Amino acid sequence: MSNSPIGIFDSGVGGTSIWSEIHKLLPHENTIYLADSKNAPYGPKGKERITELSIKNTELLLQKGCKIIVVACNTATTNAIKHLRKSYDVPFIGIEPAIKPAALQTKSKTIGILATKGTLSSELFHKTADLYANGVQIIEQVGEGLVPLIENGKIDSPEMEKLLNLYTTPMLHANIDYLVLGCSHYPYLIPKLTTLLPKHVTIIDSGTAVAKQTQAILAQNDLSAETSNSGSCTFYSNGKPEILYDILKRDYSVEALDF
Ligand code: DGL
Repeated sequence: MSNSPIGIFDSGVGGTSIWSEIHKLLPHENTIYLADSKNAPYGPKGKERITELSIKNTELLLQKGCKIIVVACNTATTNAIKHLRKSYDVPFIGIEPAIKPAALQTKSKTIGILATKGTLSSELFHKTADLYANGVQIIEQVGEGLVPLIENGKIDSPEMEKLLNLYTTPMLHANIDYLVLGCSHYPYLIPKLTTLLPKHVTIIDSGTAVAKQTQAILAQNDLSAETSNSGSCTFYSNGKPEILYDILKRDYSVEALDF
């Protein structure tokens, strides 16, 4: 048993989509969330820089006493988690695009994936895609520009709608019936995507799978918090704290911290 916090980081506000699934499943766990918005987006950066930033975030969370680290960012997971696991003793949970469930369930044998350049060009993504996409065509699309709009509070903007149309139209022409959201920022686009996509296209992300994996790894390592604990949730941003505050529906306070 351990009431030490679960540390969660992302390149910005998007990983709160993962944090909220973890908090829903494990409300008795204390959590610390780091939004590295100052360095967003990670997507266009190279593997070396993404790894450096992931190390910086991990070390801050470890200084704050975290017992486990959730890398709530597909780009950081696919580029840096191997290095993190080798370098630190705590367990790491990563997030990867949900190719497997989409590939198993597609009827049209064609699925779309929207993710960052860093994720789609990573070795880990290609390994997963090759493993599960047996006989299934995967239409890959880099979501260039989506993260900066979300980081600037422009989820419901005309620019966003234009980009989403641009990125999904070729997928629809290819007859996808599943759209995999391979970036933790993108679940915030689901309301807009639902209005743009036909009903037969199912949108999936990895949030609930990551929360269940976190629960399992805590239990395996005897690190779960006592269920009588009422979990505290702490949020730090090195960008504009009000953007994180808004994404959290103003339910939690956000501390500005330079890291
Ligand atoms: N939220 C991130 C992900 O899951 C990174 C987005 C970015 O910073 O480009 O990939």
